[in-house]
Amino acid sequence: MIKRIKDVFFLNTKNTSYILGITKTGHLEHLHYGRRVEPSENTATLFTRTRFALGNTISYDKENAAVNLEMMPLEMSGYGKGDIREPFIVVSHEDGCRTSDFIFNAAEILDEKSEMRSLPASYGKDVKELRITLLDRSYGDTLTLIYDVFEAEDVITKRAEYKNNKEKEVRLLRLMSSMVDFTESGYDFITFGGAWAREMNESHEIVTNGRSVISSMTGTSSNRANPFTMVARPGTTEEYGDCYGMNLIYSGNHYSCLEASTMGFSRFVTGVNPEGFSFKISEGEAFESPEAVMTYSEAGFRRLSKNMHDFVRRHIVRGEWKDALRPVLLNSWEAAYFDINEAKLLKLAKASKEVGIELFVMDDGWFKGRNDDTTSLGDWEYDRKKLPNGVKGLSEKIHDLGLQFGIWVEPEMINEKSDLYKKHPEWVLRHPENHHSEGRNQMILDLTRKDVREYIVQSMSKLFSSANINYVKWDMNRIVSDAYSSELGYDRQGEVYHRYVMGLYEVVKTLTEKYPRILFEGCASGGCRFDLGMLCYMSQIWASDNTDAISRATIQTGYSYGYPQSVMGCHVSACPNHQTLRNAPLETRFAVAAYGVLGYELNICELKKEELEAVKDQIVFYKLHRELFQYGDFYRIEKGERTAFSNNAFKWMVANEDGGIGMYLQGLAIPHNPFGSFKAVGLEPGKVYNFRNRRLKYNIKEFGDLINTVAPIHIKRDGVLHNLAAKVVKMDNEKEEALLPG
Ligand code: DGJ
Repeated sequence: MIKRIKDVFFLNTKNTSYILGITKTGHLEHLHYGRRVEPSENTATLFTRTRFALGNTISYDKENAAVNLEMMPLEMSGYGKGDIREPFIVVSHEDGCRTSDFIFNAAEILDEKSEMRSLPASYGKDVKELRITLLDRSYGDTLTLIYDVFEAEDVITKRAEYKNNKEKEVRLLRLMSSMVDFTESGYDFITFGGAWAREMNESHEIVTNGRSVISSMTGTSSNRANPFTMVARPGTTEEYGDCYGMNLIYSGNHYSCLEASTMGFSRFVTGVNPEGFSFKISEGEAFESPEAVMTYSEAGFRRLSKNMHDFVRRHIVRGEWKDALRPVLLNSWEAAYFDINEAKLLKLAKASKEVGIELFVMDDGWFKGRNDDTTSLGDWEYDRKKLPNGVKGLSEKIHDLGLQFGIWVEPEMINEKSDLYKKHPEWVLRHPENHHSEGRNQMILDLTRKDVREYIVQSMSKLFSSANINYVKWDMNRIVSDAYSSELGYDRQGEVYHRYVMGLYEVVKTLTEKYPRILFEGCASGGCRFDLGMLCYMSQIWASDNTDAISRATIQTGYSYGYPQSVMGCHVSACPNHQTLRNAPLETRFAVAAYGVLGYELNICELKKEELEAVKDQIVFYKLHRELFQYGDFYRIEKGERTAFSNNAFKWMVANEDGGIGMYLQGLAIPHNPFGSFKAVGLEPGKVYNFRNRRLKYNIKEFGDLINTVAPIHIKRDGVLHNLAAKVVKMDNEKEEALLPG
């Protein structure tokens, strides 16, 4: 609901309110974001009151000497008028002046969400929209702030559009998407950073003075700094405390900052990273910022995550796969890497079918000359030696086995060793004469160019139409360096990063709309582009190249704050694990991967009989509860904190109206464990549930030479007798069974 009373706008969701008002000088003051407040006529008391400008702060003008922009919570802050905190916008005018003073001009309340032209956005019925247009006092350019209210999910989105109304061109140096001022400092800024194969590590910083920033300059949203962040009162837990979840529907360089000013305020801003950014805007042209997503919970992180999960599922993911159960897949990458061919793949596929896999995915290595990562990106023709019957022939054989067929591509890239590079060296994103750098031996195609975008759409369309393809993994394996487009002039190079992202969106929008049945999974060296922008086109994203179950428990816990399980690709892989060399039981690997979109990524043909039986059983179990695993409410109960006196356990749960499934995962093993418990969450208190654990068979070899503590004769570890005993004797796990009230 959006309501205007006098000069105050009330944006109410089920449990929250966002309130802003127009001050007597025409500035927008931020009045409240938090618990729901019912709109009241008594609006005057909501505004800040000052009697005089304090200390060496700036008075707005002689008539309004007490108005001091540094001492107010603002809804939008310009540049150069006395508010010296993080600005929302910086424009450089034709005369070099950067000062701006945006004053209220008009407001409009709409019954539907207006569309964005250049970027992906959330969508939905019953969305109410507030548009407030501000006019710069000196230059006449306009800034429109756009708010969309998603009542049921307690989400408000915010974005901005800048328009140049003058004859002279300007340079936009910064335009944020959202800004939220708080009237206290000392908030906990919670961010999620990492690197390749160790994404989404939770980090806390209590900001009492100065700025805490998380941003990316990789050209992607990045594994270094996910755009999802939280601002919370220190001490907020899963169940208690005020907290705000913030995200950005954007896949490029982004910036989020929490600033505590010495006047006792905090300011949060998020948007496109202003570092190196400069956008030329001519008369009549406009620039739109990405949409920022905000939620507030007065009941800790659990509610915050639930709001974000519901929002992502209902208002970000779209198309035929939106609410669909995702298939269990087998991916060839960790099974064979580049060393693939039709016979090998078919062998893997047959074995996959036997254990209940539904979708077979041929990963990297299938196209002309692609035997390692030095060659062939850009040439999307199949390798005749590896695939004598082509992609079509292979896909038919896979379908004949009763499996769906999927393929890997990395369309934004080019290798120097490729036909495409010989033909179009000018298509590469770099300065044509200067020294350039590469990542994974590859360069990036210049997606700011129309001809490049057309080539990608045309080559991918040819591939996707060439066979019965049910799934596409869209990869992107390097970050941006040498950002320079030879087609854009010298004065537009500050636009390259953003234009790349807009170009990418145009390409993926065209292809995903053209092939609506294909399930697209995003990927960028794992989670280097795990964001809401990509999720507007691709229904799931490969969460990390790290498939180690213990590492994954941390990574998936990190993602779970802002993203639901239905968008997270999670695979069971071989042991010792290829990234960490750690051994984890097959059941542990399954348990962690099951709390997402389950897949397997290992040479299934080489599994032992008992392992195959276990995998078969896991897949039956997952399919039986797939709805719950993928779409149930997800709860973090414990997240593997390592202290001397804790169990180092990860505890998760998914629940819906029928029941729930919990995971209790021992992280680092310790002897003589402190007392452990599992407190179920998400169940109905009055209902009686049948509580039971999964029934498993253990291989006695997992206990090493401890077998000698029970064997009547000495058994040599790994010897003939040990192997024989392991074949004949299987150990049951402990059984838990009880009728318990929720
Ligand atoms: C990086 C991805 O994250 C992997 O899963 C795999 O697809 C490789 N690229 C293939 O080159």
